Amino acid sequence: MTETALFSETLKERTWSAHGDSEHSGFMEDLMRGNGTREDYIELVAQHYFIYEAIEERMDELKDNPEIAKFNFPELIRIPSLVADLEHLLGEDWRNLITPLPATVRYVERIKSLDDWAGGLIAHQYCRYLGDLSGGQIIKGRMQRFFGFEKAGVEFYMFEGIENPREFKVTYRDNLDNIGWDLEEQNRVVDEVLVAYQLNTDLFQEMSAAKLAALS
Ligand code: HEM
Repeated sequence: MTETALFSETLKERTWSAHGDSEHSGFMEDLMRGNGTREDYIELVAQHYFIYEAIEERMDELKDNPEIAKFNFPELIRIPSLVADLEHLLGEDWRNLITPLPATVRYVERIKSLDDWAGGLIAHQYCRYLGDLSGGQIIKGRMQRFFGFEKAGVEFYMFEGIENPREFKVTYRDNLDNIGWDLEEQNRVVDEVLVAYQLNTDLFQEMSAAKLAALS
């Protein structure tokens, strides 16, 4: 990491290979190529529910922390959209029909174990929400095409309060660049983003394995 590089650039550079591992996991590739089923997609939404519940609960609990306060964007909140999607996909009884997979349990435990470390929670927020505003927009289009969704079912990917995701990402990166983390803290945050990607990749692998097991 050079002293002059912007942190947001260094962060992306040092985690992009881990991003590729998540993006190109078999589960996501099947889904993106039209080889996944509607049930696969529903399972993904269900697992997202538990992960976002953990992130959003912790963001709320730490809202008075001055670093978290800078990343408290109400327009990012995803739980209401996930609930709407699950109601659409599974019906009113959705909450009784979903269970976190072991990889999701580990993901949630990791988020909770960060305690009051703001940088760690921001690392998880970055990994998921900036992804939803980037590749997530491509995922939305494919799911609409493959499964016939319009809005209901893919509301998770629709950020009503964000007119221009590209501009929002610029603001978010500015925040990362101006928060004033020293090099040591920046490195800790990069490492936590790597953990976050790994947890996502593990989850995708587990969902693929669960599919295979169900077939045999
Ligand atoms: C099919 C799956 C995916 C596709 C096609 C995809 C695609 C993309 C694309 C096109 C970008 C924009 C790159 C740029 O601005 O130069 C991006 C950014 C990003 N994606 Fe993904 N992605 C996928 C999955 C994921 C997953 C599963 C995660 C998180 C676990 C994720 C996290 C991110 C993040 C954090 C960024 C922003 C990087 C930055 O600008 O700092 N992506 N993705």
